Amino acid sequence: MNSELKIKTIGVIGAGTMGNGIAHVSALSGFDTVLMDIKDEFVQQGLSTIQKNMGRQVKKEKISQSEMETSMSRITASTDYNQLSACDLVIEAATENLGIKLDIFRELDNICKPETILASNTSSISINIIASATQRPEKVIGMHFMNPVPVMKLVEIVKGKKTDNSITKRITDLSTKMGKIPVECNDSPGFVSNRILMPMINEAIFCLDEGVGTPDAIDTIMKLGMAHPMGPLTLADLIGLDVCLSVINVLYTDFGDEKYRPCPLLVKKVEDGELGRKSGKGFYNYNT
Ligand SMILES: NC(=O)c1ccc[n+]([C@@H]2O[C@H](COP(=O)([O-])OP(=O)(O)OC[C@H]3O[C@@H](n4cnc5c(N)ncnc54)[C@H](O)[C@@H]3O)[C@@H](O)[C@H]2O)c1
Repeated sequence: MNSELKIKTIGVIGAGTMGNGIAHVSALSGFDTVLMDIKDEFVQQGLSTIQKNMGRQVKKEKISQSEMETSMSRITASTDYNQLSACDLVIEAATENLGIKLDIFRELDNICKPETILASNTSSISINIIASATQRPEKVIGMHFMNPVPVMKLVEIVKGKKTDNSITKRITDLSTKMGKIPVECNDSPGFVSNRILMPMINEAIFCLDEGVGTPDAIDTIMKLGMAHPMGPLTLADLIGLDVCLSVINVLYTDFGDEKYRPCPLLVKKVEDGELGRKSGKGFYNYNT
């Protein structure tokens, strides 16, 4: 591979649930990492989550104390987009909202070097649409990590219509370098993962809303009956109910099929600010 194309510095946009996990794995895999969010308090919160999660890995003897210190020193925290100008790859993990993502990709296209690869961790938004906000659609790709990023092995690699094969190959190789297992798919609403997962979660919420079972019963039936590691309501709380609602809305709008109609209880919970683990309450309580 041409050395000038080697990925050394990775920018991560958004220091929330996914962004801090991606920055964690990036730094631990030896890449200089720029973690960016809109407010300093969000970036600091992201950094302290990384510190806490790496500390856990040290306790479990998965990494050494010095590996943790070196990795933390590779992370630069910022609220300034210009800090991303020298990155070889930027992975966007901001809020799941089309307008926000289009603005970010327009900005990145202006700021970054022409050879920089722009990836999105979106759960459902079209990579083709995101790519259309840039003058480099052949260098735009979906890099869909799973939550929690330091633990989960899969990266769903989403190829847009114009994504160059050489970019797909480099991102696939990079994912492997990050200790992940990349699997390719084509751009389509929800890709493979959320096309299948989100209707199941939505249906579990309908079961709850219609009194078919308690949260515990629904989760236990799916855990014990289908050998799922956790029930769909527990998983929805982990993902974030706002993220779940955004994804199911993309499926509903893009396919125009009633079967993807979001459950009213999901809509209400998001309106009430009950977003799952990150807000302390979702289908379960996390404040204790
Ligand atoms: N939560 C999950 O389980 C999960 C899994 C896979 C993919 N995703 C996707 O990852 C992305 C992020 O999701 P999340 O769960 O981490 O959300 P989150 O709400 O935890 O974090 C989003 C962060 O993006 C920041 N942000 C918003 N606009 C920004 C901007 N213009 N510039 C920089 N930062 C900005 C917010 O301040 C926030 O800190 C979404 O696209 C989501 O669909 C989420």
